[in-house]
Amino acid sequence: MSQTERPEWLETAWKRVKDKTLRNVQRIGAGFPHASVNGVYQLEEPHWWTAGFWPGMLWLLYDESGDERFRLPAEQCEARLDAVLDGFVRLDHDLGFMWTLTSVASYKLLGGEASKLRALKAANYLAARFNAQGRYIRAWNPWREGEDNAGWAIIDCAMNTPLLYWASRTTGDPRYRHIAEAHMDTVLDRFVRPDGSVHHIVTFDPQTGAHTGSLGGQGHAPESAWSRGTAWALYGLTLSYHHTGKQAYLDAAKRVAHFFLSNLPDDLVPPWDFRLPPDVPKHRDSSAAAIAASGLLLLSRKANPLEAHVYREPAVRMLESLDSRYGAWDDPEEEGLIREGTSHYPEGKNIGVPLIYGDYFFVEGLARLRGAKTIFWE
Ligand code: GLY
Repeated sequence: MSQTERPEWLETAWKRVKDKTLRNVQRIGAGFPHASVNGVYQLEEPHWWTAGFWPGMLWLLYDESGDERFRLPAEQCEARLDAVLDGFVRLDHDLGFMWTLTSVASYKLLGGEASKLRALKAANYLAARFNAQGRYIRAWNPWREGEDNAGWAIIDCAMNTPLLYWASRTTGDPRYRHIAEAHMDTVLDRFVRPDGSVHHIVTFDPQTGAHTGSLGGQGHAPESAWSRGTAWALYGLTLSYHHTGKQAYLDAAKRVAHFFLSNLPDDLVPPWDFRLPPDVPKHRDSSAAAIAASGLLLLSRKANPLEAHVYREPAVRMLESLDSRYGAWDDPEEEGLIREGTSHYPEGKNIGVPLIYGDYFFVEGLARLRGAKTIFWE
């Protein structure tokens, strides 16, 4: 969208994002915010999976504005992550989220060799989590003593694979891409249901690779449809098509998109799970809407031009709805940009609050609409 074609709501929203983020930089600096509780972003330890979103948002705003007040804390965040990368035992498959939005982002915008090496190191750790028998990337490490989750893969990992595609492109070595494709083929076989909904956790025997079942995870139940997981699948499959040109990924991305869109309520912001029994509260998850909107904008570019509007129009309306109905623009005491995210309903964590990944993907969606040239996952 050229400058003259940009609608007023988009330009107003962009300015509000910049103003609020500049205010937030004063307090958060090179911290790692996750959920905003009572108006204040809670800061996490750098190993937590959300560490990339704040610096990623700063890089998006730096790219558009050239304003050093965004670049400096983004670079400091990246440097703070070095201790986590070098002491890698705390890291899981979310290396993709964390280093795509820090070191890959910095490398794409500024070309620094140190950032490239950090991102390649992260890609190597991610590739090392591949289980060759089951053809999946292992998700987590044991959360507690004695737990064995070596056979678990989760749908969120679809968004971690872009780090592997990037590593193959950057080094010329196809092994990283092979692992990403093997994992995404497993997503096609085991995660995406015929109706376009997805499982959150799929389990395998880590010795033989045999498929053993599925778990509800952050969704309500094994056969329910966690909305943020659906958004991860929509965007991750579209990105895998972008990086490989493999038709099956595009077809599956469309199937997931149709499931997502056809189950939305009037304001286009989904409940935390699309398949809930009547007695379970249907709290919204605005982060799922933001992720899906940015993914749909990419999907609209990848789809047949005749059907591009099928994905673009709802994406624009979702971003408009997030801005007008969920944007915390009227409250200077609220650090979050977008209200009513739900991080983990089954564990009762961060329900009905701004989440940094909701904010990030809202800003990324706006950046796409404004014609940003660099989107870090691509
Ligand atoms: N990747 C974890 C989540 O979406 O909450």
